[in-house]
Amino acid sequence: MGSPNIKGNTAKLVDAILDGAAENGANKVVYNLASLEIKGCDACRRCQDSGCCLIEDDMQEIYEEIQTADVVVLGSPVYMWQMTAQTKLFVDRLTAFLRPNFSSRLDNKKLILVFSQGTSDRDAFKPYFEYTAGLLYYMGFDVLDMIIAAGTDKLEVSFRPTLLEKAKDLGKLISASNHPGPRCTRLESSLTQSL
Ligand SMILES: Cc1cc2nc3c(=O)[nH]c(=O)nc-3n(C[C@H](O)[C@H](O)[C@H](O)COP(=O)(O)O)c2cc1C
Repeated sequence: MGSPNIKGNTAKLVDAILDGAAENGANKVVYNLASLEIKGCDACRRCQDSGCCLIEDDMQEIYEEIQTADVVVLGSPVYMWQMTAQTKLFVDRLTAFLRPNFSSRLDNKKLILVFSQGTSDRDAFKPYFEYTAGLLYYMGFDVLDMIIAAGTDKLEVSFRPTLLEKAKDLGKLISASNHPGPRCTRLESSLTQSL
């Protein structure tokens, strides 16, 4: 979870997905990236051959967790038209999963993306979200779905029970045994047309 606001919009959506998964018996582990020590990639490139990043910080535990997790949920608010700086530090460090030929050491790790944004223009950052999903696909993640909460400046996620319920349902769906989950990028506009 990449917002410094650990009880904010992004956190509530991520929690709802994880709560849904937990109802199906999944174990959930949350990392608040903003409160962890995650340094920027220092471009030593020594991870390329070994797959191991040599920077000793909290990212080491997250690498382990990603490798063993069935599903990863990555959430960030939009800051300055992009993911937060804390989330970007995390994403840069995923480079350790790339081999020297840029193939991924991750075997289509299932991923759900969550973004929240102040503006109610649901399409404002659509190209950026799709671009980010493309990047994460390249990094070895199978991006199953994407939840975008738009207009949080006017209406916070905590006042949108339908959206939270949809997020929970998504968590249930992707944790259902042997269910491959949806395979699409679904924006809030299609998830919650009436909100
Ligand atoms: C530094 C900063 C930059 C922001 N930049 C944008 C932006 O470019 N576009 C936007 O729609 N909202 C922007 N916002 C609003 C947040 O995206 C919005 O409030 C979001 O829902 C906050 O999520 P959170 O409650 O999980 O922290 C910005 C907020 C902050 C603090």
